[in-house]
Amino acid sequence: MANVVVVGAQWGDEGKGKIVDWLSERADVIARFQGGHNAGHTLVIDGKVYKLSLLPSGIVRGGKLSVIGNGVVLDPWHLVKEIAILREQGVEITPETLMVAENTPLILPIHGELDRARESGNAVAKIGTTGRGIGPAYEDKVGRRAIRVADLADRATLETRVDRALAHHDALRRGLGLPEVDRDALIAQLLEIAPSVLEYAAPVWKVLNEKRKAGKRILFEGAQGSLLDIDFGTYPFVTSSNVIAGQAATGTGIGPGAIDFVLGIVKAYTTRVGEGPFTAELNDADGQRLGERGHEFGTVTGRKRRCGWFDAVLVRQTCATSGVNGIAFTKLDVLDGFETLKICVGYELDGVALDYLPTAADQQARCTPVYEELPGWSESTEGARSWAELPANAIKYVRRVEELIQCPVALLSTSPERDDTILVTDPFAD
Ligand code: IMP
Repeated sequence: MANVVVVGAQWGDEGKGKIVDWLSERADVIARFQGGHNAGHTLVIDGKVYKLSLLPSGIVRGGKLSVIGNGVVLDPWHLVKEIAILREQGVEITPETLMVAENTPLILPIHGELDRARESGNAVAKIGTTGRGIGPAYEDKVGRRAIRVADLADRATLETRVDRALAHHDALRRGLGLPEVDRDALIAQLLEIAPSVLEYAAPVWKVLNEKRKAGKRILFEGAQGSLLDIDFGTYPFVTSSNVIAGQAATGTGIGPGAIDFVLGIVKAYTTRVGEGPFTAELNDADGQRLGERGHEFGTVTGRKRRCGWFDAVLVRQTCATSGVNGIAFTKLDVLDGFETLKICVGYELDGVALDYLPTAADQQARCTPVYEELPGWSESTEGARSWAELPANAIKYVRRVEELIQCPVALLSTSPERDDTILVTDPFAD
């Protein structure tokens, strides 16, 4: 049986929700392996809209096991809230359908405060984060002062962990002009929320390995996009986790050999939220049109997304760093009606041609796009369910993208409706 990793191959918001939902119907286990409640997935099932940001998408489908892996940073209060909202919508969530890795680090209220204080106070350091405390929580993880799910089970352990964390945070807060943390209040808050989290705590690495041995299909659900990867993204304008497919293994505790297929989700044009370089960005009527037609507003923050032409250089690079076997190409219909389309096929940096994104931030910012023009199409591609329903120029566009990124299309999505999908290769096929 195949296990599939789904990753965003651009800056996030590629339309992963629909594809993950489509695949989760075929999977037995759905696992989140990085990020936190900075993600935003909207699922429409039988006309009902579900909004998820922390829980794996499989949670809304009965009979599946949803797993939050250790690679995630977990805000326990958000977890409880998201579970309550879904329950109100009729979704059944029990320790049999949801498991949280015991070694998952927690996001505390101080992480959100720190995140927002940094973003508002100092324009030099501004990343344009979601303000959810993601970065500070990961800092504590690698700084070995995080409070993890398992620490909630024992008061004495929790107190020691909190003291360790606060030795760092109080010093930092003094520097930022924030009041010191009320230690006892924080411990009380954590003890209060503890039972609601511990109910779902499990040795996820063990469960997943057993499921794998039993021949169950596991879907690893990535959040954000590969260009926000802490190592391979547009650093420092990135999120604080590894987003690329290799993280599915370390973020859950399953060996890399368990990954049989990596599906990269790729939007037919490019968007990004927040600060940072964006070579193929459009600040003109075409960019405006992509944003309007594509409804490019952030699910979590409501921010307007920056829009640009498809950048084949970036996607070729992210397909390589994640070892993408096939892509799900989304939102092709947003390009309907453009007379001419452009694809970024290379960069120029100080007069030198480049076929990859350089690493240094200043060089990334100075790159200018080299475009190739393709004829557009006037017909609608929305809702197409076979190649025969697509205009010839739309097929040419897709084929050119495949050539440039050196990766085949496995799925083509032509509307938010789950069945408006052209299947070329089933990622779960043996
Ligand atoms: P953080 O993850 O909140 O620290 O934000 C860091 C960067 O990642 C910012 O540019 C955010 O806009 C971006 N980001 C975080 N989560 C998402 C997402 O789910 N979609 C798109 N961008 C995201």
